[in-house]
Amino acid sequence: MRLLHRGQLQLLLTLSVVLGSLWMLYTLNWPRIGWSPTYSLSNSWLEYTDDDGVPEKVCNCSAILQGEREALDQAKVLLISKDFQKSVRIPDEYYINATQDCSEFRLSRKYLMFPLSQEEEDFPLAYSIVVHHKVQNFEQLLRAIYAPQNIYCVHVDKKSDVSVFAAIKAITSCFPNVFMVSKPLSVVYGHWSRVQADINCMADLYKISTEWKYLMNLCGQDFPLKTNLEIVRMLRSLRGGNSLESEQMTEDKKWRVTNVHQVVDGKIQRTNKKKGSPPFNLPILTGNAYIVVSRGYIRSVLEDNRIHALIKWSKDTYSPDEFFWATIQRMPGVPGSTRPNRKYDLTDIHAIARLVKWQGHEGPQDSLQSVYTECHGHHVRGICVYGAGDLQWMVEQHHLFANKFDTDRDPIAVYCLEKYLRYKALADAD
Ligand SMILES: *[C@@H]1O[C@H](CO)[C@@H](O)[C@H](O)[C@H]1NC(C)=O
Ligand SMILES: *[C@@H]1O[C@H](CO)[C@@H](O)[C@H](O)[C@H]1NC(C)=O
Repeated sequence: MRLLHRGQLQLLLTLSVVLGSLWMLYTLNWPRIGWSPTYSLSNSWLEYTDDDGVPEKVCNCSAILQGEREALDQAKVLLISKDFQKSVRIPDEYYINATQDCSEFRLSRKYLMFPLSQEEEDFPLAYSIVVHHKVQNFEQLLRAIYAPQNIYCVHVDKKSDVSVFAAIKAITSCFPNVFMVSKPLSVVYGHWSRVQADINCMADLYKISTEWKYLMNLCGQDFPLKTNLEIVRMLRSLRGGNSLESEQMTEDKKWRVTNVHQVVDGKIQRTNKKKGSPPFNLPILTGNAYIVVSRGYIRSVLEDNRIHALIKWSKDTYSPDEFFWATIQRMPGVPGSTRPNRKYDLTDIHAIARLVKWQGHEGPQDSLQSVYTECHGHHVRGICVYGAGDLQWMVEQHHLFANKFDTDRDPIAVYCLEKYLRYKALADAD
């Protein structure tokens, strides 16, 4: 895997723009005939520029990615300007209208409509994406991970605003390999329905294509930290294994699975009724909602009778998304799983599935006990919603994706990250 230093990145950018322009002039009248390494320099038009959102003139992404104080302070000033916020926000209506001409939409939003390498083409990926709001966030995520050989299922919450549903449906209609889930649900926070939304997408993805090798589940506020090529290489190096948090459940979380829960007025509530022990006395482990798993793992979720029993048992627990996948990962016979013995425990830091900055694990730079430094954005339910100041640290981590981003609050963080990934993807293709 080739990771570029920031200086190299800047140099490459300049070089590729100059060479790209020359090459474009030279090849102007040549027909485009699909993927071929000799054509790749002419891909420089696929880089993001001033015209694609946040103007580079007022916001220097290279400097932000290097954590330069001055650039970060400038970004902070921009973020509180109403004019700036207005200039970068994309309303749902834009997507509904712009997608009426799909080829123009794909072109103007610079979707990569051809595989950047044979290696990526030979290793298709499946994505389950669960969304309920923030269409712009979703669309920037989609274009960052989009590749024609991959397949994407989108679950839009049944409670979502009409405009959210219409805009996302319109976006998916522009791609043959992006589709809306066949059975959408109304998801209740902390309830089984969150897991079921993913399972419904998994079932569709499993049925529609036999090609994909690995599945990753995302929410609309995730964003990749790696290019598609880097993701493919990291997944191949797992050699069929899965990579997700799976650890012993701590005492303070046990109430989640010992008491019966029910949904009252759209909110989950604990009752005093005790639950029976898990089926087959399965050890219940703990993890998070986001996983990187092989096709075989998904087959087990859909077909293994032990897992069907676990599903039934999980339906009245609290936040099964934080134990269901982790528990399956330690079940003997599940492809890519590891043994239940605690020596095989994997933390969220070691798993590659998701980078999350939990507020409770943050601390000052010189603290030995903290897991990471303080959040540079803001917190929602104890999770850091990243700011531009988190980028330098973030791109050095091994995780494939990070959670959470919010283009309404910090569009610069997302913009600089997607710009960085696109440079890297095009540079690696050269
Ligand atoms: C952006 O920042 C980089 C890194 O500090 C610097 O080399 C470059 O000149 C800056 N670009 C602009 C347009 O200010
Ligand atoms: C709708 O999209 C078309 C191009 O597809 C564009 O020419 C037109 O200006 C858009 N209208 C509005 C109201 O945004």
